[in-house]
Formats: sequence, C-alpha cells, structure tokens
Amino acid sequence: MKKIDTGTTPASAAADHYTFKVTAKRLLLAAGGGLVLFAAGALVYQSGAWDKMFAAQDGASGASASHEEAGAQARAAMLAARKARKTDGSAAAPIQPVGKDGYFVPPAESEIPDGPVGDAIKRGRDIFVDTPKYAARYVGNSMACAQCHLDSGRRENSAPMWAAYVQYPKFRAKNNKINTLEERINGCFQYSMNAQASEAGKAPPPGDDIYKELMTYMYWLADGAPTGEEMRGGGYLKLKETTLGYDARRGLAVYEQNCALCHGADGQGRREADGKVRFPPLWGPEAYNWGAGMSRIDTAAGFIKANMPLSKPYSLTDQEAWDVAAYIDSHERPRDPRQTGTIEEARAKFHKGEKSYYGKVLDGQLRGVGVARPAAPGA
Ligand code: HEC
Ligand code: HEC
Repeated sequence: MKKIDTGTTPASAAADHYTFKVTAKRLLLAAGGGLVLFAAGALVYQSGAWDKMFAAQDGASGASASHEEAGAQARAAMLAARKARKTDGSAAAPIQPVGKDGYFVPPAESEIPDGPVGDAIKRGRDIFVDTPKYAARYVGNSMACAQCHLDSGRRENSAPMWAAYVQYPKFRAKNNKINTLEERINGCFQYSMNAQASEAGKAPPPGDDIYKELMTYMYWLADGAPTGEEMRGGGYLKLKETTLGYDARRGLAVYEQNCALCHGADGQGRREADGKVRFPPLWGPEAYNWGAGMSRIDTAAGFIKANMPLSKPYSLTDQEAWDVAAYIDSHERPRDPRQTGTIEEARAKFHKGEKSYYGKVLDGQLRGVGVARPAAPGA
C-alpha cells in the first residue's frame, strides 16, 4: 500500500507548521467530547505520529520505493516503444505501464511539458486539487475534486481520472443518456460540489475553460491507458453486502473510533488558519448534497473501505465500512437540486431502489429535507 503523497494535495501536505484554529462558533457547535478527541487528534497529526502509527502496518516504506521505480521503468519502456514504432512499423507495440501492484501508472508531475499544453494541464490540476480557489464561482460547498478522487485523481479505487478518461462518452442510468466527459464532470459540480449554492448558482456552462482544463489534465493522466477498457482500480470499490446489513447507529461507534479525530465529532471537518480545508466535512451545509454519488451508502462504503481512515486503507471490516457509511449518510446535507416537488416525489423519481436515507424516516425524522449555508451578511 502506498503512503499518502505529501506533495500534491493540499489536504495531505506536511503538517509541521499546522495549527488548528478553533473558532468560537465551532467551539460552541462541537460536543465537549468531540473537542477533546480533536485536540488529541491535532497533536497526533502534528507530531507525525499518525504516519508512524500506520507505517508499521503499511510496511510500505521499503516496498514503495521499488514500487515507484518499477512504475517509472514501465513508463519509460512505453515511451521508448512508441519512439521505436515511429520509424519501424514492425517494432513491438507499447505496453500499458503498470506498477508492481498491478495498477496503471500515470505520468509524474515532473513530466508535465512546457508550453501551452503544459500550462493547461497545470491549470486543470490546480482546479482539481483546490476547486474552491480555482473554480470559485461554481463551488457551493467546501469540497475539492481531490478530496474524493485522492492523490490528485491518481489513486486506484478512488475513481482515478486515468481510468475515467478512457470510459467516455458513456451511457449513464442516472440521466438515461450518453454522457460526454464534460457532462460527467458537470454532474460532480452539481451534486458533489453543490454548485447551486455557488456564486454562479450553477455548474460551469457547457464549453467553459474549466472543463477544457480539467479534461486536459485527465487526458494527460491517462497517457498510455487503453480506450474503452474497464481498468483495474477504476471507479470505487464495490463492497459485497453483509448478512447484518447496514446500521447508522452501529456506525456511530465506528465513526467515533476511526473518523472523528480528523473529520470532527460534528462531521464538519477542519480548516487551516488561512481558511483552507484540511479535513473535509462529511455532512452539513458544506458537504456533498443529497443527489451526490457519495450520499449512496454503497458508494460511500466502497470509498471508505479502500481509502479511509486516511493512510490506513482496508483497515475497517466490511461491516464497519457499511455501518459508518450509513452513519455519515444519515445526516442532513444540502438538498437534492433535482427536487422540485416533494421529497417523496423526488425519492420515487431519482432515488428509486437506491441504498440511501433520502426520503426515509430515521429516528422519527424525515431525511433529505436539506440544510443551506447561512445567508452571507448583508445578502
Ligand atoms: C463528494 C465526493 C466527490 C467530489 C467532491 C467529486 N466527486 Fe467526482 N465522483 C464522485 C463519486 C461518488 C463518483 C462516482 C459516482 C457514481 O458511482 O455514480 C464520481 C465520479 C466522477 C467521474 C467519473 C468517474 C468514472 O470512473 O466514470 C469523474 C470524471 C469525476 N467524478 C470528476 C470529478 C471532478 C472533476 C470533480 C471536481 C469538480 C469531482 N469529481 C468532485 C465523488 C466526488
Ligand atoms: C487522518 C485523518 C483522517 C481520518 C482518520 C479519516 N479521514 Fe476521511 N478524509 C481525510 C482527508 C484529508 C480527506 C480528503 C482526501 C485528501 O485530501 O487526500 C478525507 C476524505 C473523506 C471523504 C470524502 C470527502 C468528503 O468530505 O466527503 C469521506 C467520505 C471520508 N473521508 C470519510 C471518512 C470516514 C468514514 C472515516 C473513518 C472510517 C475517515 N474518513 C477517517 C482525513 C481523514
């Protein structure tokens, strides 16, 4: 297993100089116990003990260096084969670059070319990693693409962009039509980024540079990936159902033990002193909305099993992953933007047969009503 890449995503940047800024409002909001946990979490994270705690289980440090070498060699071999075939049609065809773990190896950041293409790739990467900054007008919450597509969209079983790129155009049951990659990205803006609460009030318009730059970045990440192939490690893990089923109440205990440390007992995550999101929110007004893929318990369970707790993937049992997914997805979040009539109607139309709490009653409360950001002062 790979250790977290400390170079590319702001959220996983070195924690050395990081100090938690607890605002008065947060203090009031957070439960007392949660705060104590948080303070402990901050210390553990800051001291680097978090990484050490997991390094042992990972056993990765030694193995990962040679894993990266193998990946780099595979890419170099592919590029050499391409070059040879340019002049000699009988030379062996290039082979898809694959690492020791059997997953596709996208190009390294250092391979980004100079010039206009390289500039577009870099802008796409920046939008992907820090969406609230680089696509500010269209982001209605505190999320960034890379918070769900880890390692800047490189991580296997985290819906990596190298696997996504070669799947489009693609038929999607969600809107019952062929979707271009631009339309697919638009979907993540509408639901995962809750664009309707953004300054623009909607996702970027068709043909916007934001799509072009994101797609240029994805195209570059997918260099060497075969068109149309369902790649190993693409999408999110599909977790088998367990005999016990899922239970949000059981999930609370899993959450407190494994997640609250970073995402907070109140699920609202943590910001750095400069306001940048350090640990993303999981529910509430700043999280993905009720129409998002992550609000489906099966999708969240698969994501969590393979990716959470951060730097400790596959440490939860399947049962724990299902239960904790149910727990986080039982909470209110921004409303499903497709809901025009009642929740019941929207449930029947858009959430039929889905594993989610949308439109269901849990602990006597109807879920899916939505929570909005407080109006800006003076607005
Ligand atoms: C809250 C988590 C979350 C955020 C934030 C997010 N996505 Fe996604 N994304 C998902 C999920 C979940 C899916 C898979 C949905 C499904 O299974 O229906 C997905 C799927 C995708 C796919 C298709 C993947 C495939 O293999 O077909 C693309 C492309 C994509 N997202 C791009 C983006 C971009 C670009 C952004 C930022 C603008 C973004 N996502 C933000 C959760 C997220
Ligand atoms: C060590 C800190 C840490 C722990 C512990 C942790 N997470 Fe995360 N989590 C993160 C970070 C950071 C991200 C964003 C990914 C990135 O930037 O690399 C994230 C992303 C997520 C996301 C997708 C983004 C979002 O906000 O919706 C979900 C869902 C999630 N975590 C759930 C969990 C669950 C459930 C647990 C417990 C089983 C957990 N996390 C434990 C740090 C942590």
